[in-house]
Amino acid sequence: MTVIDKKALIEERVNNGLLGQWYPVAKSVEVKGARPHGVKALGQKLVLWRGADGKLNCLDDFCPHRGAPLSFGEVRDGNIGCRYHGVIVDGDGVVVRVPAMPECALEGRKAVKTYEVTESNDCVFVYIPSAEQPKAPELVLPKEMTSEEWTGFLCTALWGTNYRYALDNLADPMHGCYLHAESFTLAYGSKQDLMKLDKTETGFRVERVGQVGENFDWTEFEVHSGNMFCFLDIPYPPAAGPGSFMRILGFVLPVDAHHCKVFFWRMRKVTGLARESWRFLYRARLEANHWHVLEQDRVMLEGMPDDARRREMLYQHDLGVSRIRQILTRAAKTQVEAELAESEAAA
Ligand code: FES
Ligand SMILES: [Fe+2]
Repeated sequence: MTVIDKKALIEERVNNGLLGQWYPVAKSVEVKGARPHGVKALGQKLVLWRGADGKLNCLDDFCPHRGAPLSFGEVRDGNIGCRYHGVIVDGDGVVVRVPAMPECALEGRKAVKTYEVTESNDCVFVYIPSAEQPKAPELVLPKEMTSEEWTGFLCTALWGTNYRYALDNLADPMHGCYLHAESFTLAYGSKQDLMKLDKTETGFRVERVGQVGENFDWTEFEVHSGNMFCFLDIPYPPAAGPGSFMRILGFVLPVDAHHCKVFFWRMRKVTGLARESWRFLYRARLEANHWHVLEQDRVMLEGMPDDARRREMLYQHDLGVSRIRQILTRAAKTQVEAELAESEAAA
């Protein structure tokens, strides 16, 4: 009899990324025209393309004939054509045509797994189903993304580290005044503090006790049944144009166990002419500063060993780090238990 190591399954699920979640996978502009776009999410290769009406499709990136990546093919009449032997598959994963073989039995067969896909704020989101949540719940977006008062830019970056370190980094405001001390706006405030953690309606807020509004001083996480994200503010001097602080909305995609992709919307609350002037200033001057800061995070996280989690010694400042890990572990436990119950019932 095989003994199931539930703890190991839970750890593996956390490490590879939770199922039953909407994840951002690409910028909207990356999915266009005749070229399908391949992405990787939770270790799975997916292909995205737009149908004739511009509607997004997402399938496993696997041709049902012999497994060539469909993303190497091309979009034809709203369907996707495999580059290897020309098999055509539609957005429902059904083989439409096998051009090399008349009346081939594959035609009409649903042969490729499909994923629910949507887009918002210049970004494509894909739902990765779980056993207990096969259908996608609502994708809950930060309120700034649906507000007329806010405007911003999406920036994405691939980091050579497990996504858990990217989330830990976001749940750790104390690194701002050290790691980013020489940056544009993160040099201010005290370098010593305590942290506090408060539960919110949908997640938690981790915050420095001694200062707010001087540096990267707090982060809030929202955890919904089908996705999670965080937000934080970066104080801005008047020289950075209208709109006071800059708000970062952060999402992280687990690409595979050793890579993640961060999706950050850099937002400001500005309307009218001020909005246009800020957008211009951002592109012309500020964006480079932000990339510089993001690179500092990337280099630091990529420098940490994979097993840092097992050798670390946390202290009071790591309240947010502990909380986000606890949330992931709890969700993974629920998923793994549901899967085990399902396979037991089937047996
Ligand atoms: S592998 Fe795709 S058509 Fe043969
Ligand atoms: Fe940082």
